[in-house]
Amino acid sequence: MGWKTLDDMDLNGKRVLVRVDINVPLVDGVVTDSTRIRRIAPTVRDIIAAGGFPILLAHFGRPGGERRENLSLNQLVPTLERAFETKVHFAADCVGAGAKEAAETLQPGEVLLLENTRFHAAETKNDPELAAGMAALGDVYCNDAFSAAHRAHSSTEALARLLPACAGRLMQAELEALEAALGAPERPVTAVVGGAKVSTKLELLGNLIEKVDYLVIGGGMANTFLVAQGKNVGVSLAERIMKDTAAEILAKADSTGCKIILPSDIVVAKKFEAHTEHEVLSTENCPEDGMILDAGPASVEQIISIFEESKTLIWNGPLGAFELEPFDAATNAAALKAAALTRAGLLTSVAGGGDTVAALNASGAAGDFTYISTAGGAFLEWMEGKTLPGVAALEQA
Ligand code: 3PG
Repeated sequence: MGWKTLDDMDLNGKRVLVRVDINVPLVDGVVTDSTRIRRIAPTVRDIIAAGGFPILLAHFGRPGGERRENLSLNQLVPTLERAFETKVHFAADCVGAGAKEAAETLQPGEVLLLENTRFHAAETKNDPELAAGMAALGDVYCNDAFSAAHRAHSSTEALARLLPACAGRLMQAELEALEAALGAPERPVTAVVGGAKVSTKLELLGNLIEKVDYLVIGGGMANTFLVAQGKNVGVSLAERIMKDTAAEILAKADSTGCKIILPSDIVVAKKFEAHTEHEVLSTENCPEDGMILDAGPASVEQIISIFEESKTLIWNGPLGAFELEPFDAATNAAALKAAALTRAGLLTSVAGGGDTVAALNASGAAGDFTYISTAGGAFLEWMEGKTLPGVAALEQA
């Protein structure tokens, strides 16, 4: 790990600009999932304990460089105060005289939150001048926003070059967990990749077949691979146009020694609806009007036995239409098995990315996974083997 942590920095009496990702879901002004906020609390607490003054920089939504009241970070202050158990002040801009005064009058033990960095169009252009305006507010830069580290923006990239820089506790935990899962993992390594489209996960699949021993493919993506094998998938979600690409991935996996696991049996219905009539069929027998909504019990058995053989598991995407009961069965059964093996100390399990965390939370398995990433896009890009600009800037700092 080529980056510094909070332990390497002298924080006493220092104003610490902390880039956090508090891009949380908000419905009618109420935070419906505060995970990202709770996960940055250790960083804030440790900075305060070391005598530092945490000044939070963050984006919220995609305001496109305009001030939009519905995307003001001001709305998150009460949730932040609950998570940090201290006073959180708010400055109506992330640069300028008002922010400077708020930073200078901050009292020990308190936190300052700066307004949405993306209210400045310059932020997403990684503008050095905007970064210099931010740097003028603090003495040290701490990046705790792994989930925004795939963006080269002023607050995630340029700023790291202007002040002594380090990773926060959450960034550190994310990078260590991912390193354990794909960097230097204990083998055999299994990856589960689900979700709707092969086209959005091509780079991911390409990287994984080079790195893992087993690649379990689920969800709509699996249907595209079944089509590539010449199987009928009825009216199921599938990208027929990607069938040659899927065939190439199967052939390449053969040469890299990665075993791709596709469903051998499927749960088929006539419509996309919870509790709709359904049957379990072999993948050879999907009818013309059938819609595949989940992997079947024999497939789940196979996945579970692969988990039992594995030492490391990395998971992105559900195996079926997990949002509709009972088509969450394969995802739940596999997730619960991974959780049990992890609890028994037999498996290192790491999961992340959009729907994945929702699916694992719904199954009740998430709590037992070794690590659940707070990141969506950044987790995927990391799994694709890409360099994340926010992490690279910390390494070079
Ligand atoms: C996320 O929610 O994944 C991060 O906050 C990044 O948001 P973005 O995709 O708008 O850059």
